[in-house]
Amino acid sequence: MKCRRCKAEAVVSLPSHNTAFCADCFLEFFSRQVDRGIHEQKLMTREDHVLVALSGGKDSLALMLELGRQGYNVTGLHIDLGIPQSSPAARSVVERFCAKYGFPLIVRDMKNEGLAIPKVKSMLHRPVCSACGKIKRYFFNQTARKGGFNVLATGHNLDDETARLTSNTLRWDIAYLSDQGPRLDDADGFTRKVKPFWRVTEFETANYAFLMGIENHYAPCPYSQGASFSTLKSLWIDLEEQMPGRKMNFYQGFLERGRKVFQGVEEKQGEALAPCERCGYPTSAGMCGVCRIREALAEKEGCPETDS
Ligand code: AMP
Ligand code: FES
Ligand code: ZN
Repeated sequence: MKCRRCKAEAVVSLPSHNTAFCADCFLEFFSRQVDRGIHEQKLMTREDHVLVALSGGKDSLALMLELGRQGYNVTGLHIDLGIPQSSPAARSVVERFCAKYGFPLIVRDMKNEGLAIPKVKSMLHRPVCSACGKIKRYFFNQTARKGGFNVLATGHNLDDETARLTSNTLRWDIAYLSDQGPRLDDADGFTRKVKPFWRVTEFETANYAFLMGIENHYAPCPYSQGASFSTLKSLWIDLEEQMPGRKMNFYQGFLERGRKVFQGVEEKQGEALAPCERCGYPTSAGMCGVCRIREALAEKEGCPETDS
C-alpha cells in the first residue's frame, strides 16, 4: 500500500480515514489532528500555562511530546501512587522521559501525603479505583492551582471519550451527558481541564508513540479489573471495523448537536460548592472526599483492634 500523500511505502493504514501513510506523513497527519482538535474546541492557546498529567502510559507521554513540539508551554505532573512495582516503574519512565526532552516535571508522592493507594485500599471494603481517581483529581487540581497553571491536560483519546459517552448514554445520565467533552471550563476553584487527543484514537496514538521512540510503560494497575470501559471499547472496535469512521461521527456529532440538547434539559441545579472545612478544596459536602479518606485512615490507625 502507498502513502496517500507522498506515494512512498505506507506503514500505517487508517481505514476510518480511508487512507494510509508513510512514517513522516503519518506524524504530520497526527499533529494536524491534534492541532485541529485544540482549535475546534478552543482548548488552549500558547499563552496558557499547561500542566500535563503524566501517568507513564504512552498516551500522556505522547501528549506531552506533541504539545511541546507544537510550542505549548507545558510542565509535567506525575502522581506517584505508592503501589509496589507498578508505581516506581511508572515514575521512572516519566522522570526519564522528561529528562530526555528537557520538560519540567512535578512529582507528587502519595506516600508523603499519607495516602499511598495500598494503605487506602486496606481500609476500604470495595475496589479502591474510585478513591484513587478522587485522590488523583484532587492533586491534579491542587498542584495546578498552587503552581499557577490555568490548564490541566490529560491523555484521554477518542476511544476513551467514545466509550465514556456510550456508557453515559446507556444509562441516560443527563448530568454527565450535559458536560462531557474535551474541555471543562474552570469554575468554583477548579482549573480548566482539557483532552487535546480527543480526535486521535488509541491505535493512532500507539503508532505515534512507537514512531517517535517513546519508551512505553505497560504495567496495568494490580487493583483494577482491567482497562476502564474495556467491554465498550471492544464493542467499538467491532463497530468501527464494520463501519469505518462511525466512532468519530458519533463523538463529534454529540459535541456539535447532542450535548446542547442535554444541557437544555439539565437544570443547573448542581449542589453549591464551598471550600472544604479542612483543606479549602471546593466541595459540596462540608469536608472534601480526600479529607474524609484522611480522616478514615487516621481513625483506623488510632484503633487497630477494629481491623478485620
Ligand atoms: P487513566 O484513567 O489511567 O486511563 O488515565 C487517564 C489520564 O489521566 C492519563 O492519560 C493521564 O493524563 C492521567 N493520569 C492517570 N494516572 C496518572 C498519574 N498517576 N499521574 C499523573 N497523571 C495520571
Ligand atoms: Fe488507581 Fe489502580 S491506578 S486503583
Ligand atoms: Zn479537604
